[in-house]
This record gives sequence, structure tokens and C-alpha cells, in this order.
Amino acid sequence: MNAPSDTIPYDRIRALEWTGGRLRLIDQRLLPERLEYLEITTLEAVAAAIRDMVVRGAPAIGIAAAYGVVLGARAHASQSPDRWKALLAPDLERLAAARPTAVNLRWAVDRMSEALPRATEPDALLALARMIHAEDIAGNRRLGAFGAELLPPRAHVITHCNAGALATGGFGTALGVIRAAAGSGGIERVYAGETRPWLQGARLTSWELEQEGIPVMLMADSAAAHLMKSRRVDWVIVGADRVAANGDVANKIGTYALALLARHHGVRFMVAAPTSTFDPKTPNGDAIAIEHRPVEEVLAFRGQRHSAASAAFNPAFDVTPAALVDVLVTERGVIHAPDLERIAAHLQTKS
Ligand code: MRU
Repeated sequence: MNAPSDTIPYDRIRALEWTGGRLRLIDQRLLPERLEYLEITTLEAVAAAIRDMVVRGAPAIGIAAAYGVVLGARAHASQSPDRWKALLAPDLERLAAARPTAVNLRWAVDRMSEALPRATEPDALLALARMIHAEDIAGNRRLGAFGAELLPPRAHVITHCNAGALATGGFGTALGVIRAAAGSGGIERVYAGETRPWLQGARLTSWELEQEGIPVMLMADSAAAHLMKSRRVDWVIVGADRVAANGDVANKIGTYALALLARHHGVRFMVAAPTSTFDPKTPNGDAIAIEHRPVEEVLAFRGQRHSAASAAFNPAFDVTPAALVDVLVTERGVIHAPDLERIAAHLQTKS
């Protein structure tokens, strides 16, 4: 159910796979030079893989964590068959704390934790982890179709970071919209921002779209204003790490700048995210914890220093105010001009 599809166009990449009792992850630190996999067998190793960006992207780290709970449960059950649930509880908190901004991580750990009292054995949790994974893929296909309907024929779009198959269970959110549109001939050009400093756009989005045969043009992040001023751009399409109750959106650093530029240039701005990325408990963007990552990510690339500075500012995310978001697209449909009431009403609807 979670495998790549032969029948759905542009659906060939999976960042995570549960196989032979292990979690198999594409090591995203090595792309695009090397496509290598890590076989993960412990909950602690899942937390480390999330922290170190072996696996990244909000939905993907939630799904990895769900499988991590299974690995933790199995380890405790083999050592202490009577106490495995009690022993697992503190591990769940450590797993959920691996990265702070993406709410999908907490959402997935909470879902696993709520199932714990009813689970008679660790493998009951595996069924739930597989379900979370499958739901994400199915949701992204629906979300992609909703988003694609909003694009004009032969659209020209900008995307930022990587909100693709690599960042999700499969198919992607922002890239899910682009995949769905490409499948119906609706995409003429995708501009991908490099996404300094970790280069998710240059390394991951470009790789993913090239693998699928969807034409992509890479640009320096700082080229976006000139691009919007001088060439046709219909939409900016991005993913999200957390959508607050009022519609403010945390996403990869640089997203806010793109939203400001889009508004100035009359370009529409779409955030594509599953409802698992919505956090009604966070009232607005000011309440979202922004992860700051090691300064070495800015001062050097893969251990090679390219900067004379000894200090750096490295927030991994920023917050785009809801007022700059034209549409939020989820697996349940489209929220135009998102605000507190529209989002609350949307979250009441069923898929
Ligand atoms: O630091 P990353 O690579 O995990 O950041 C990822 C993003 O900001 C994505 O846009 C977001 O998680 C949505 S992924 C569908």
C-alpha cells in the first residue's frame, strides 16, 4: 500500500520503507551524489536520524517516529514482556523532542501513544504506523489534485525547500500539487530555490523532479524578486511545518520572503499541507518554536569552510502571516484566504 505506484504518474520515490522488521531510510544528507539507505533498528537511531536530517520534512519525520515507536516497543517487549508499555513512555518524549518546529512529529507520537493502552503486543502498533504512512500518501494524492485544479494551463511556479516525496510518506505536498498538475499537462516550468544553507532545493527537489522527468530550473534564493519582476510566475507553492490556528504558517527559512515578494508582484501564494500539519493548540505564529540549527551549516558545506565569519544566524524556519497566504490546500480541500474561522470550519470537515 505504501509502495511506489506503477499506475499513478510521477509517483516513484519513497524516502521511508518498513521492511524486514526495520525502517529503511534514504540518507538525504548524501543526495544527489549518492543514493544510499540506512537500515534503522532502534528508537534511539530514529531520533538521531531525525535530528541529523537523514530523514526530514514534516510528514516524513512524523512517519519515521511512528515506526520508531514500534522499534522501541519491540525492544522493551523482548526484555520485559510485562512492563514494555511503561518503559516505552519516556522514550516517546525523547522522540517527539528530536526537532521542535514540525508539529507532525508530535502528532504522530501522540497518535501512537494514544493507541498504547489498547495494544496487546508491539505489532498492533506496527499496524497503526503503517496506516499513518498509507494515509499520508493517499492524502497527498488528494491534496495534489485539489491544488492542481487552481493552476492555470501550463503554469509557471516557484517552490522552496523540498516538500516532495522525500519529505513525506510519498507523492509530496507542494510537489504533490506539481506532480498532479504535471500528470494532466498543467505545468510548464518549476523554479526551485536553492534553499540555503542546507540546499534542500538544489539537492533534493531538483533530484526528485529530475527523477520524475518534470522539468525544473534551479535558482539562487536571492533571484526570486528579479524572477517575479521579469518573467511569468503564476504561483508560489510551498509546504508547511506547522499551521497555527489563525493560519500563520511556519515553513523553511526564506518562505516568508517569498510570500512578501509574491504579494508585491501579484503572484498567488499556496501552502499545501495535510491536516496533520495543522496545530489548533498554537494560536498564532508567534507561539511556534523556531528551530535554530548549528552555525556550521551556514559557515561551511560538508565540512568545507567557505566563510570568513566565525558566527552565523541559522534559523531553520520562518513564519508567514496568514494574510499573505492566498490558499491553504489540504487532503480535505481548499481554504481560501485562511483565518481562524475558516480553518476551524475546515478541520470539522471529513476527508
Ligand atoms: O528542515 P527540513 O528540511 O525538515 O524542512 C522541511 C520544510 O520546511 C518543508 O517545506 C516542510 O516540512 C513540509 S514537507 C512536506
